[in-house]
Amino acid sequence: MTAEEDLQLEDDFANLARLAAAGAQEDVRLWLAKLVRRYRTRHPSLAERLNETLKATHTRSTGSAALRRGVTPQFSPPEASLPVDADTRMSLLRVCDDRASGLEAPLLPNGLTTEIDGLIRERFEVDKLLAHGIRPPRSAILVGPPGVGKTLSARWIAFRLNKPLWVLDLTTVMSSLLGKTGANLRMVFDHAKANEAVLLLDEIDAIAKRRSDESDVGELKRLVTAILQEVDSWPDSGLLLAATNHPELIDPALWRRFDAIFQFPNADVTTVERGIRRFLGRDAGNFETYIGMLADALKGSSLSDVERSVTTLRRRVLLKEASPAEVVVSLVSPHIEELNKAHRQTLAVELAKSQAYSHNRIMELTGVSRDTIRKYAGPSPIKGRSGRKDA
Ligand SMILES: Nc1ncnc2c1ncn2[C@@H]1O[C@H](COP(=O)(O)OP(=O)(O)OP(=O)(O)O)[C@@H](O)[C@H]1O
Ligand SMILES: [Mg+2]
Repeated sequence: MTAEEDLQLEDDFANLARLAAAGAQEDVRLWLAKLVRRYRTRHPSLAERLNETLKATHTRSTGSAALRRGVTPQFSPPEASLPVDADTRMSLLRVCDDRASGLEAPLLPNGLTTEIDGLIRERFEVDKLLAHGIRPPRSAILVGPPGVGKTLSARWIAFRLNKPLWVLDLTTVMSSLLGKTGANLRMVFDHAKANEAVLLLDEIDAIAKRRSDESDVGELKRLVTAILQEVDSWPDSGLLLAATNHPELIDPALWRRFDAIFQFPNADVTTVERGIRRFLGRDAGNFETYIGMLADALKGSSLSDVERSVTTLRRRVLLKEASPAEVVVSLVSPHIEELNKAHRQTLAVELAKSQAYSHNRIMELTGVSRDTIRKYAGPSPIKGRSGRKDA
């Protein structure tokens, strides 16, 4: 091995470690794929071992971070007929099929729900539209901040159209031998077109972001060009969806080609409240008193974050780690100033009733006076400033 090769190996190893330590699983996979290409000629056995690792990570990493969060989507086992990369034999598509288990409609502002319902209706009436010489909408791009339901809505659209959602695995598409990307992409699109599929290009900005990686610039340009051609020749019989939270990174030429643009805003307070109720599920009764204040405290968060907070509440109460009042106060205390007086008072009284803290401590936590607390909850059973527990 030359000194130069030595240095290269060192760099590659360090970079791999950096990505792994950061938990950037998709990046680790992309990087591994690149190393397989790089070392195939000079160090075939190393390349082969890396390739084995890459294949093994594939089954665990079922795609975008978003898909891994929240409700676990139903990923079918790879179908034998799905297109695979000729080189790595990894599937170029992931299948997300909610038809067996069902799916609840995403919680979205009314205007957006109407737009999405409109698309679904038009897709149902493709034949009628075509008979009148009107093209049905063939593609839509879903744009919005992380965790607001873009991927979920793509699943919902496919589910309503009674189809599985096929998700392009950009990582695998790009992991093949240099120069094969275009061929891979065509394979996926050909397969999707032939099956009148609902195909999702999820987190499509990933292509744009990776442009900063010099060595792949040529390959990425070819990929964007290939996607443009595929979007152009997408048939009326299928539905092509794309999702991004970085619209500014999308090539304007690609942007123009989508028939519809769905803007996903951050959830408003009403949507957050509906989310809280949904995510509380059968525990909604236990938390009824707190739903309004939780919505106030969590407004501005993505529903994905709301879901996580609500799950924490439910878990802690179920495992008897704390009373509902205590878990709620730990969640809302950073936002206590934003809660109205009535909410703060309810919280203070419930905390006093749960006897978890002294009235002094409750006053510190909620800003409600001890007199008011005593008036509604009776005298404090706990004396002193700190109470039974720290909050
Ligand atoms: N509008 C919503 N209605 C119901 N649940 C939601 C909604 N938005 C997010 N969630 C919950 O959060 C999870 C993650 O949402 P999703 O993957 O759709 O976000 P995303 O917009 O695709 O985010 P990203 O940009 O990070 O990919 C969902 O599976 C769901 O459990
Ligand atoms: Mg997503």
